[in-house]
Amino acid sequence: MSYILAIESSCDDTSCAVINSDFHVLSNVTASQKVHQEYGGVVPELASRAHQSNIVPVVDKALKDAKINKQDLSAVAFTRGPGLLGSLLVGVCFAKSFATALNIPLIEVNHLEAHVLAHFIKDSPEQNIPSFPFLCLLVSGGNTQIILLEGPRKMKTIGKTIDDAAGETIDKAAKILSLPYPGGPHIDRLAKEGNVSLKFSQSHIPGYDYSFSGLKTSILYTLRDKLKSNPKYLEENMADIAASVQKAVVDTLLAKFEKAIKDTGIKTIAVAGGVSANSELRERLTLLGNKHCCRVFIPKFSYTTDNAAMVGCAGLFKYFNKEFASLDLTAYTR
Ligand code: KG4
Repeated sequence: MSYILAIESSCDDTSCAVINSDFHVLSNVTASQKVHQEYGGVVPELASRAHQSNIVPVVDKALKDAKINKQDLSAVAFTRGPGLLGSLLVGVCFAKSFATALNIPLIEVNHLEAHVLAHFIKDSPEQNIPSFPFLCLLVSGGNTQIILLEGPRKMKTIGKTIDDAAGETIDKAAKILSLPYPGGPHIDRLAKEGNVSLKFSQSHIPGYDYSFSGLKTSILYTLRDKLKSNPKYLEENMADIAASVQKAVVDTLLAKFEKAIKDTGIKTIAVAGGVSANSELRERLTLLGNKHCCRVFIPKFSYTTDNAAMVGCAGLFKYFNKEFASLDLTAYTR
């Protein structure tokens, strides 16, 4: 049995996991950073500093939880990018040093590929995993993509946002409503109590690409106009606004994804990334899958946000292929 230690530090979560060669996660420890909350978004310099203080205790706990000695590790996988440069560098430098000290290989992982490959983590022996080819809707704070996978190392982005991401749009609406950052979980919670009362206009672009900037502007202008006639409009209609924003985002996401399902004829579909925690998106994607007779893969909540287990899983595929990284590489932001 081989054991991979995985490190994720691309944004504001310092995470470390140990995964074995059966894709079973032995530990997955994440330290989130509360320091950003008062700024309404992630402050890169504060994030790097918090990673520096968190990384040693997080790795130590992951090894202890996994009941593994560091000498039993076979490789160290780490997120090389994309993400915030300072944050990534903490993980990259730690991973290089750790692998060098233990004289074991180093494996670089792309953060977005890791989100998609998280569906191959086996939390129980009987758990189903996707078969190839499959289509994955990747939705996070900074990315919105439709990815076609023909194999674990064969991914093609067939659609992506040409401007803002789905998560950014939801976070922006939450900010207008003075909800804490990140706004996604708050919009999700409020939407459950509200009715869809507002209709926003959106830009329509051809193919599988997305555009969220038109929707973002429409949300801003619609709410601004409502406030002109009723200065208390926002506080009196929080739940309805949340439900309307959420529906508009999910409608947009699923319209292009359904087109991709129809055009490719692929019968295995999945969703990944932070926004895949959204309850409306999870429910409606399942319905969409049923409508097109697809097998649908929805991640466990713990694998929706940034976590090192997914990095370990993506790293394992490279480990089996002996695709190791050299010590002179550095992080990339995009
Ligand atoms: O993948 P992720 O953790 O970070 C990036 O790498 O971007 O995604 C974070 C995004 C944020 O925009 C956050 O508001 C959103 O995921 N999010 C949600 C929910 N939980 C997190 N959006 C909608 N509904 C949720 N339940």
